[in-house]
Amino acid sequence: MANKSENFTVIGLQWGDEGKGKIVDALANVCRYVARFCGGANAGHTVTVGTEKFALHLIPCGILHDGVLNVVGNGVVFDPGEALEELDALAERGISVGPDKLRVSSAAQMVMPWHKLFDGLSETALGKAKIGTTARGIGPCYADKASRSVGIRAGALKDADSLAQRIRQVGQVKNRILSAVYGQDELDIEAIVREYTEYSRKLAPMVCNTGAILRNATAAGERILFEGGQGSLLDIDHGTYPFVTSSSVTACGVSPGAGVPPVAVGRVVGVLKAYTTRVGAGPFPTEQNNEIGQYLRDRGNEYGTTTGRPRRCGHLDAFAARYTAALSGVDELALTLFDVLSGLDELKICRGYRVDGREQDTFDPDCMDRAEPIYETLPGWQEDISGCKSFEDLPQAAKGYVQRVEEVVGCPVGIVSVGKERSQTLRHKTSLPGLQ
Ligand code: GDP
Ligand code: IMO
Ligand code: MG
Repeated sequence: MANKSENFTVIGLQWGDEGKGKIVDALANVCRYVARFCGGANAGHTVTVGTEKFALHLIPCGILHDGVLNVVGNGVVFDPGEALEELDALAERGISVGPDKLRVSSAAQMVMPWHKLFDGLSETALGKAKIGTTARGIGPCYADKASRSVGIRAGALKDADSLAQRIRQVGQVKNRILSAVYGQDELDIEAIVREYTEYSRKLAPMVCNTGAILRNATAAGERILFEGGQGSLLDIDHGTYPFVTSSSVTACGVSPGAGVPPVAVGRVVGVLKAYTTRVGAGPFPTEQNNEIGQYLRDRGNEYGTTTGRPRRCGHLDAFAARYTAALSGVDELALTLFDVLSGLDELKICRGYRVDGREQDTFDPDCMDRAEPIYETLPGWQEDISGCKSFEDLPQAAKGYVQRVEEVVGCPVGIVSVGKERSQTLRHKTSLPGLQ
């Protein structure tokens, strides 16, 4: 019987872009499956192999490893056009992907052209109050999933005739909303039918009951890595609502999003950037809209993988990370982009909030827009640490920073990442096998 706890779950503890792609890639060599369970093409996960950089949006980061079956789980909103573009780009670089390497859940909700259109229209209507979405149709697609009456799932790709019928039926409803509510031109539904018929031809062999595959794998003792998208503060329930995404992105989302029992989550790795960033609107108490923020943006190359937008940057909010680590039952942290902090005289860590003049005992994301961070100041270091080969090689001040992060967040730091390449990954207190 399988030891279910051998699985790994890798999630982001901030507002996304923590370096999950790099950590998933580093761990994938000891896994048989890598499965996405939330989000969609709003994710942008970067993996660097030598001089080659891969930006993956929908395709799991296990795709660069032989012998890994990658799964797009039922909790993902699947955009077939985006997926094919990614597969074509991989093929151009010599990585050909067939059903032996990639499976898509037939229960994954499908992103349709009207979802992207409504995403943009909704943002325009909000004006200054806009969420700052990635414009990938994520919110409207999840809304249709919940509404049931107008949802189309990836399983429909397996039968082109009924898919065409369903697109015509739903398309009619969407066109009515487009013209009556938004005063927009109607979509050419027959063109969409042709486009999706083509997707059906190319993708149908990969669409299947992925939940069954993952449950059987667990029973057979084959290791699964669940790859989180976004970051915990963007979670639909536990994030900074309404400035969030539309799915459950913590480790709690693995079970419903992949079709596995909660115990299958296994060891939870919380990926924590050594400072904080955010793209899009919403509260950010430790934001540094000044030369420190610019220093972090420049050194960390903080521009969105999906949209290219400059990321907002600030000090590490360890009080928020304590909350998100607790939410997911994080076993160990992967502290990433640590090399970016070199060269600052001193570093600040937020260890609590004051709201309406009172220090908070517990973290509440709804108070974030009024929160005044309580900082601790730690000494910085000047050395370039990107060449360090072990934790022991780090300067004393850097080791001190790691220790303070552990104390405030309440989790051991298992892995320290000092650069984007695979070799720049230092083991510290990790209990995970397989780091290269
Ligand atoms: P994800 O969405 O969580 O997978 O993160 P992204 O790929 O969107 O953003 C992380 C960025 O930081 C990417 O450009 C990575 O190549 C890069 N990166 C990851 N780890 C490190 C690190 O330790 N140091 C540096 N300098 N860059 C890193
Ligand atoms: P990865 O997986 C950073 C943010 C958007 C916006 C909000 C809602 O690369 O970490 P959406 O398009 O989901 O409706 O946008 O969520 N967002 C992300 N920010 N990294 C991501 O993914 C994100 N996915 C969504 O910027 O603020
Ligand atoms: Mg990203």
